[in-house]
Amino acid sequence: MRIGLAGVGRIGAFHAETLRDLTDVDEVVVADLDPAAAEAVAERLGVGFAASPAALLAQGVDGFVIATATPGHAPMLRLGLEAGVPTFCEKPIAGTLEETMDLAKLVSQSSTPVHVGFQRRFDRGYQRAQRAVAAGELGFLHSIRAQTHDQAPPHASYIPTSGGLFRDCSIHDFDIIRFVTGREVASVYATGANKGAGFFAEAGDIDTAAAVLTLDDGTLVSLSATRYNGAGHDVRMEVLGSEGTIGVGYDDSLAVTSAEPGATYPSGPRHWSFMERFLPAYRAELTAFAAVARGVLAPPCTADDALQAFRVAEACELSRHEGRPVSLDEIPSL
Ligand SMILES: NC(=O)c1ccc[n+]([C@@H]2O[C@H](COP(=O)([O-])OP(=O)(O)OC[C@H]3O[C@@H](n4cnc5c(N)ncnc54)[C@H](O)[C@@H]3O)[C@@H](O)[C@H]2O)c1
Repeated sequence: MRIGLAGVGRIGAFHAETLRDLTDVDEVVVADLDPAAAEAVAERLGVGFAASPAALLAQGVDGFVIATATPGHAPMLRLGLEAGVPTFCEKPIAGTLEETMDLAKLVSQSSTPVHVGFQRRFDRGYQRAQRAVAAGELGFLHSIRAQTHDQAPPHASYIPTSGGLFRDCSIHDFDIIRFVTGREVASVYATGANKGAGFFAEAGDIDTAAAVLTLDDGTLVSLSATRYNGAGHDVRMEVLGSEGTIGVGYDDSLAVTSAEPGATYPSGPRHWSFMERFLPAYRAELTAFAAVARGVLAPPCTADDALQAFRVAEACELSRHEGRPVSLDEIPSL
């Protein structure tokens, strides 16, 4: 099978390497807005190179992976759909709610499968938590804590086109909360802070955020996000119920120093980036996409899932700008 990939930045080059090593995949071809960058990555990884994403699709591929900067997702996804090629698109599928809705509608009317890149759905910890909730092991849920703490910010030029901290970063939490609980978010109350580099505020963005979400069954979620977690890349979730609590991310790599006398946990090496933290999940996600491209698996994470997570991010942005709780009923949907 031949897979084409557009966008060879941080995640794109990483995905190209993962795809190259999958037994299901015979050939990988990469392209970028910057052909020299694509050529350099192709040479380093020993994969193929095309002059542009359109040229790549014109060559004929069995699957198309979109890992460009966020503003490139919508036009690339349209290209993939027009070519009728099974397509994997990194989150978020577009930079605005309007475009996300347009794409979700287009995908629902198309027979071309589209798989969205929320890799936490392929993480064994989150999967275990989902099973515990579904089996009723925790009793009734009352509270959830969810966090995405990056060790260090991405490059400054990433921020103005990222969509902001909620749409770019917390969107992973919004998706995985839906996945683990099977519930929808009903309302949000969000705020943010700028304590780091000036380029966040200059782009109208924040570098740290907190939000309270209420799910449609009344479960309360407290959520946090930051680009400045010097202790390490720290992504976790705790799900608390009347009969038990389960925690994702609580292994020896937990990026916390215990203040308790004599405590030896956690004792392992920390994760410093999303690539280390989710390495097996990214591999599982792209293995699943190869199965989607072969036509033996329906997309495990859909454009509608992308839309629902984006709507929560949109509600959080509105909440922090207006300083008030926002109901999801206020956010347009299909
Ligand atoms: N799922 C995850 O865990 C995860 C992690 C990081 C990034 N991402 C997502 O992946 C995307 C890329 O992030 P990144 O950190 O790799 O960014 P990056 O800035 O490092 O790289 C982006 C690349 O896309 C290229 N590009 C931009 N527009 C293009 C276009 N129209 N056509 C072709 N190439 C284009 C740029 O030249 C650059 O090489 C973002 O949308 C981000 O939200 C997802």
